[in-house]
Amino acid sequence: MTFRVIQWATGNVGRQGIEGILAHPELELAGCWVHSEAKVGRDAGELCGLPTAGVAASDDVDALVALDADCVLYSPVMAKPEEVVRLLRSGKNVVTPLDWFFPAASEGTTALEEACREGGATLHGTGIHPGGITERFPLMISAMSRDVRHVRAEEFSDIRTYATEFVVREMMMFGKSPDEAARSPMTGLLGHGFKQSIQMVATALDMKLDAEIVTEHESAVATQAIDTPVGTIDPGTIAAQRFGWIGTVGGEPAVTVRTNWFMGEENLEPAWTFGPEGERFEVEIEGTPSIKTVFHGLHPPNLQQIDPNNGIIATAMHCVNAIPSACRAEPGIKTYLDLPMATGKAAKALRGGA
Ligand SMILES: NC(=O)c1ccc[n+]([C@@H]2O[C@H](COP(=O)([O-])OP(=O)(O)OC[C@H]3O[C@@H](n4cnc5c(N)ncnc54)[C@H](OP(=O)(O)O)[C@@H]3O)[C@@H](O)[C@H]2O)c1
Repeated sequence: MTFRVIQWATGNVGRQGIEGILAHPELELAGCWVHSEAKVGRDAGELCGLPTAGVAASDDVDALVALDADCVLYSPVMAKPEEVVRLLRSGKNVVTPLDWFFPAASEGTTALEEACREGGATLHGTGIHPGGITERFPLMISAMSRDVRHVRAEEFSDIRTYATEFVVREMMMFGKSPDEAARSPMTGLLGHGFKQSIQMVATALDMKLDAEIVTEHESAVATQAIDTPVGTIDPGTIAAQRFGWIGTVGGEPAVTVRTNWFMGEENLEPAWTFGPEGERFEVEIEGTPSIKTVFHGLHPPNLQQIDPNNGIIATAMHCVNAIPSACRAEPGIKTYLDLPMATGKAAKALRGGA
């Protein structure tokens, strides 16, 4: 049996989503929504630099909602909850790296839960950060410890490898003045997904977190102009940032998620570095025993190979590989705690293919 999938948007994640869907033995590309007018009518495979896939890109939401498909890989730059409600209500499962990793019960989730029930569909949020690094891997390795006292997931990334202007400049606030960033609602919004990860880890480990998750934000400014794929970062504007979101118990850190996002390691004030291990993701459990895992390979090998970016491929693939279990799940918002473990699939030659 194959599941018919619509790819929603063809940005960095979306293009990798299409390549992943086309390579997956249980999936078939059924449709492709695009935001850009210039992409309408073009073949979805060609938009990704691949052979023709036989699916024309469309910006007609009504037609795509009416299309016979099992799932949508939803990766536009910003989520429109009302659009997700329509897709779920039409019976399409939705897998997305944007939100709903472990959503708190609220008015928004009630409408989504109702849409899931109405359409018999599942909504699943996954990715790498938030996602696998902040939730799945900490919980997996925690199973080998007793008396877990602290969980940490931390990213160390050179953001010159992320070529998406809106996300990097407007959401991550690179190139803004420190004052502007401090006033920006984005500091709060950025934590939305990471805080859900903290809640999921705490719930699974049976931790009773304090009511508020603490947010920390430090920045370093450029000491001279820094060239990046999203344009020049001017001197005096933000060129490196550390965000921390910390779930506490009795005021003491219990679950920490941190990002170290730098536009390179030079020309920063204060001077910050990633240390000798370079770009990586770390997941650490303090317990008995304490366990630390370090993930390399989720960053591009160098600044020339950023498209595709390994982290983006991993984000898209974590979504793609979750589609079969999301399609088989009972209706509702489902997290890692609800779905069976998703795995990748072997290369075609190893599956007995030609
Ligand atoms: N959880 C994780 O680990 C993780 C990791 C990476 C990214 N993400 C999230 O995934 C999302 C997509 O990231 P990306 O790197 O693929 O972004 P991107 O390259 O900027 O692509 C986003 C796409 O959104 C569409 N778009 C542009 N303006 C739009 C608008 N005003 N309304 C609706 N759609 C619009 C465009 O689609 P078309 O090209 O089709 O016209 C664009 O290519 C972001 O929200 C990002 O934060 C999550």
